[in-house]
Amino acid sequence: MAISSRLDTTRVLAAVLLPTLAKGVIVRRPGVMALAEKTQSDATAIDTMRHLRDRYGPEPVRLRITGRSVAVLVDPADVGRLLAESPEPFALATKEKKAALRHFQPHGVLVSEGEARERRRELNESALRPENVPVDAIVRDEADLLTRHVMSTGELTWDSFSQAWWRIVRRIVLGDGARSDDQLTDDLKALRQNANWAFLHPRQRGLRERFQRRLDEHLERREEGSLAAQPGDLSGQVPHWLFAFDAAGIVTMRALAIGARGTHGILESARLWPTTPVILRESTKPTHWHGTWLPKNTEFVVFTPFFHRDEDRLPYADRYAPEIWDRPRDPAIVPFSGGPGVCPGRDLVLATGSATLDALSEHLSFLALSAPLPRTLNHFALRMHATPMGTRVS
Ligand code: HEM
Repeated sequence: MAISSRLDTTRVLAAVLLPTLAKGVIVRRPGVMALAEKTQSDATAIDTMRHLRDRYGPEPVRLRITGRSVAVLVDPADVGRLLAESPEPFALATKEKKAALRHFQPHGVLVSEGEARERRRELNESALRPENVPVDAIVRDEADLLTRHVMSTGELTWDSFSQAWWRIVRRIVLGDGARSDDQLTDDLKALRQNANWAFLHPRQRGLRERFQRRLDEHLERREEGSLAAQPGDLSGQVPHWLFAFDAAGIVTMRALAIGARGTHGILESARLWPTTPVILRESTKPTHWHGTWLPKNTEFVVFTPFFHRDEDRLPYADRYAPEIWDRPRDPAIVPFSGGPGVCPGRDLVLATGSATLDALSEHLSFLALSAPLPRTLNHFALRMHATPMGTRVS
């Protein structure tokens, strides 16, 4: 069995897992993101993972951590298996996820188990269809406003992009009546900041209740042309939708910065800079890997930036390569996860993100970052200067 040395365990903790936690798993921290970009912390993390694979692989590498069995996957085929065999015996609802997500979505599908999980998963799959909402019309409206703003100030910044993005998101999820309700998404952001601290932060019951009350008021309108009009008990699921649309905005902004277009462009942005860099599963029984058994309750860690940017295996690792999405791919290229736990919002994200790229590119042209693309890209600091002749990214 591959058990990492103490030194290698320390390296994985210091170079892979701690920086991921520090950037903020639930909501990104701007200061840490800036530092991470400066030091290109993902490059170090990916190199550390390559070392682990070369020294111990291809079997899962167990870390020397007391009190918890933790196995890091290094073989792409194992990633395919882990995701295909979820939620049994590889549960999505791990201890760590439950601790983090209880702060704002204790009834979300991702932290549900058994029959409740099945029911909630079905509800998410049927509600989150892009054809349930006039995505293009909503995006076009808000993108027109943003384009005018960019024309007048001469640049597109994360701040102006994200304001437009949240208006799009609130309209898609809750309807036009929620378009300007910044308080709702600000409260959610505060709850997510607590969630970054998982076990360590006390739950702010008052804030959570205020957020949920406000959200339920919007949901009660069941506004036509929004996800809120979908049948079923949405109240426990919508906090995840709003939370996850933040990642979709980040992916769309980065896609603009590399000159990406279409759904493959959004997928590429998410491959190059995965917004769920760590996919976790917890085994519900002992499982067999490459000739050895790993105990029940082992936490499996998939660090996706390593698999998505592994230059030993992928000739396109560090460039924009939309063509890869037309053909069968490596089973570990999973920006939206895979198997039965695959992101049920994927198609909606692709529709919203690509409509935004189309609408903004109609009047603005962006000079793209070129290969080799950086391994850490701080979206907060992206500024795209618009000129009548075109635009440049700095
Ligand atoms: C760029 C944007 C997004 C990315 C990259 C993404 C990626 C992912 C990934 C990797 C997972 C699996 C997490 C895990 O296994 O622990 C997931 C789960 C999920 N995502 Fe997304 N997501 C995005 C946006 C969205 C949006 C906008 C929604 C809803 C509107 C959404 C709804 C969900 C739900 C409900 C789950 C839980 C699925 C389950 O437990 O079976 N996601 N997503």
